[in-house]
Amino acid sequence: MRGSDRPRIAILISGTGGNMDEIIRSCRSGQLEAETAIVISDNPDAPGVKKARSARIETFVSRYRKERPREENESEIADVIVKRGIDWIVLAGFMRVLSPGFVKMFRGRIVNIHPALLPSFPGAHAIRDALKAGADFTGVTIHIVDELVDHGPIIAQEEVPILPNDTEESLAERIHEAEHRLYPRTLQQLFHDDI
Ligand code: GRF
Repeated sequence: MRGSDRPRIAILISGTGGNMDEIIRSCRSGQLEAETAIVISDNPDAPGVKKARSARIETFVSRYRKERPREENESEIADVIVKRGIDWIVLAGFMRVLSPGFVKMFRGRIVNIHPALLPSFPGAHAIRDALKAGADFTGVTIHIVDELVDHGPIIAQEEVPILPNDTEESLAERIHEAEHRLYPRTLQQLFHDDI
């Protein structure tokens, strides 16, 4: 529901939750006029789930299993999202591909952050791939999610240079710094119609 005063967001994570942390912090400080209503994960052991609980944010875990179609997980997740009156779904390191049916249900209301300048280096190893390719720079992309992986209308990008002695770790650190700056700021613009 674009334009509401403090849209309710669900943050979807699988891992560390660094971006999630920044978003929660920005909501609480008022820099991001939104409410983190729930954190959803496919991984019960994700450090981000623990962090969300310590921050007293409601969490919901839907365990993915090989023998179970992902649509069953997505239907659990969709139920929670609808019941909690969520306006926006914010992907922050959620390592599952969303099915076209899920995307259709929430079309235009799912945002993702990717650690490269899309359309360059899509996929799960974007930082490593940029380094291996010998690129001079890479970066961060924030986009609306469509049916394709790491694809959809781009709403913000920031370049990050690749330095001569960069390792995957040092580059990842600078990319994450850029992400943590860019994500809350871009969400604020998106939710409040400045984009
Ligand atoms: C980030 O690099 C994000 O771009 C990618 O997954 C990573 C998640 O990191 N989609 P964190 O869990 O937010 O620290």
